[in-house]
Amino acid sequence: MKKFPEDFVWGASTSAYQIEGAYNADGKGPSIWDVFTSIPGKTNNGETGQVSGSHYHKFKEDVALMKEIGIKAYRFSISWSRVMPTGKGEVNKKGIQFYSNLIDELLDAGITPWGTLFHWDLPLALQLENDGWIGADISDYFAAYADVCFEHFGGRVKNWITLNEPWVAAILGYGLGHFAPGRTSNSEPYLAGHNQILAHARAVDVYRKKYAHQGGQIGMANNCDWREPLTDSPQDKAAAQRALEFFLGWFADPVYFGDYPAVMRERLGERLPEFTPEEKELVKGSVDYFGLNHYTTMYAAEATGAASKQAAESNAGLTEDQDVELSVDENWKRTTMNWAVAPWGCRKMLEWIDERYGHPEIYLTENGSSWDDWKVNGKVADPGRIDFYRSYLEECHKAIGQGIKLKGYFAWSLMDNFEWALGYSKRFGLIHIDYQTLERTLKDSAYWYAEVIRQNGV
Ligand code: GAL
Repeated sequence: MKKFPEDFVWGASTSAYQIEGAYNADGKGPSIWDVFTSIPGKTNNGETGQVSGSHYHKFKEDVALMKEIGIKAYRFSISWSRVMPTGKGEVNKKGIQFYSNLIDELLDAGITPWGTLFHWDLPLALQLENDGWIGADISDYFAAYADVCFEHFGGRVKNWITLNEPWVAAILGYGLGHFAPGRTSNSEPYLAGHNQILAHARAVDVYRKKYAHQGGQIGMANNCDWREPLTDSPQDKAAAQRALEFFLGWFADPVYFGDYPAVMRERLGERLPEFTPEEKELVKGSVDYFGLNHYTTMYAAEATGAASKQAAESNAGLTEDQDVELSVDENWKRTTMNWAVAPWGCRKMLEWIDERYGHPEIYLTENGSSWDDWKVNGKVADPGRIDFYRSYLEECHKAIGQGIKLKGYFAWSLMDNFEWALGYSKRFGLIHIDYQTLERTLKDSAYWYAEVIRQNGV
């Protein structure tokens, strides 16, 4: 068995809109996802997160299941419009109470809470009145909301993530339009990204200036798939590097170095906003650790013609800006998301981060896979998920052996949930949810993960 360090954080993740349901309960305001899902054609079968797994009502049962699995840390997100119904001003006491109860329940169960402030469910009022992430004042509103969260929860929550995957909110929300707010543009994503970086930095500034005495750590969770050069040619190697800089460097370079990757500036020109000298100061050094969400790997090659349609529709970003042709090996196993299972890519991704950003502490804040599964005689067999977790954790173990400071791993996801535009058709959970009865059942992968945690290794 490959043992992990004693203090390795074994966790699982979820996000508010994907699991809570109770979309209008107890004074919660609408978010952009509440409205986006009501537009015909935006989600699979018109499905929404209105009820979902009803975690809002069943959180005690869910914490008991976490305890049964033995996870040491739980990463959840706070719904901004549950806490502040219009995104600014008035605070909803019942919303605060919900998260407060959840945090207490976790601590009672010996589980460390990790709070994400924003996992895509922007208050609708901020979208309508202030243009969401492309509005000029959004970072002020975010900092004020973060302040409310630190004030109420920071005494008990010592691990914070400001933003989940700003890349997705920018590219899928403002570029390709697949996610809320559903806009399409080739310049708005870069403005939405820019304002998210500033919002992150302002929230961190509030945390460090006002709440240092709480003694916690704060960072962001960026997503990146590995890009392997298709061939040894200098062109393909450069294409893979460029793809990684457009994907992860876009958000990580500013917070580590104070500015965007040079290749983005060269290719995007005026479409990429500039930081003022004061903003650079604020942004640089604004994370205490590196949070990474990682799922898959693709080959990258210098684009020979127009970037392929397939690449444009996959996790490729605005491919015309990068001139990168993406592909996968037909022999690679694929999940039901059609994502390739390539665990070695996870290790290479960690190596790239370690080298580029000066050996930071890294947490894998999400890693996991979707497979079809269903209950048979009260049991849920999901061998594909177990194989996936085992093979990715083995590569994580190798990375730690190489001296990379990987400090923790959060399985995505604790439970089956609303998979955004794909609705309930994709199952990522360690816990199976029967959406008719809302009954929960631990899957085989949950028992397997429980054993890994108990023995502290794979
Ligand atoms: C991430 C996201 C999660 C979940 C997961 C699987 O990008 O943060 O909310 O949907 O992907 O698709």
